[in-house]
Amino acid sequence: MIYHTNNNMQIAHTAAEMRGQLQALRGHKSIAFVPTMGCLHQGHISLIEKAKSLADIVVVSLYVNPLQFAPSEDLEQYPRPFEADARLCADAGVDFLFHPASLYPESGCKVTLKVTTLHDCLCGTSRPDHFDGVVTAVNVLFNIVQPNIAIFGEKDWQQLSIIRHMVNDLSMPIEIVGAAIVREPDGLAMSSRNRYLNNHERQQALAISQALIAMQQQAENGEHDVKALRNTARNILEKNAITAQYIEIRNATSLEEIDTLDHHNNQNSRAFIAAHVGAARLIDNMPIHSMPQEQQP
Ligand code: PAF
Repeated sequence: MIYHTNNNMQIAHTAAEMRGQLQALRGHKSIAFVPTMGCLHQGHISLIEKAKSLADIVVVSLYVNPLQFAPSEDLEQYPRPFEADARLCADAGVDFLFHPASLYPESGCKVTLKVTTLHDCLCGTSRPDHFDGVVTAVNVLFNIVQPNIAIFGEKDWQQLSIIRHMVNDLSMPIEIVGAAIVREPDGLAMSSRNRYLNNHERQQALAISQALIAMQQQAENGEHDVKALRNTARNILEKNAITAQYIEIRNATSLEEIDTLDHHNNQNSRAFIAAHVGAARLIDNMPIHSMPQEQQP
């Protein structure tokens, strides 16, 4: 990995500082934005690299957004290693780091956004207010940074799909770019929450990507029945003492459920898994093709 240490990286702690720093650049430099909750890993670095390849200036935000956590979730425990994150950003060549104490008024948010599509399936089933919180934060961040391009990881596929709708429906002049999932050498999708796993759980968690790959392979070998594919994944997870929150195959764009894979209709399908392993709630997804790519008509 080649790092381009940016010793001139500027850090803003308030919206006014961030706006002030970017003001002189607007209009003649393109700005790519990578919103994050910090605790950065190689997956985030890949988003930053993509941003660098697409625009003149890269802005990264670090903000653990309380609006997207339910009361029972890990808002308090969520790791906030600011020094390490700032160093990683500088090493990756980030130009501006936005690290606000809060994005919302001290008296609380009186206006928030509401997602009315793609929100009541997959992660939305167990996290009913999560995506409202995500789009509200991303909207505030977009208003402050006013980027030309924003990069989001495909690991949060549903979030990426919803943000594409937000930008379209609210007529935001921002190009949304998805970036492929980055995996550990053994296949585990990189996630800030992998930090919660002990050695045994880390080993167990591997079953998630293995279950997705098993579904991919079974589909390529001719299994079209989604129930059978999901059973395969469930067996792999259960052998590793993991009970999935969901194992689903859906249309990658509409997120509509699919019962039967159908290569004749150029079906664009994707498999999704969410599961708790120890204290971590992990998600992952992969494309599913009903026959090997090269044989597709
Ligand atoms: O994907 C994330 O880290 C968060 O959901 C985001 C987009 C930074 C909003 O808080």
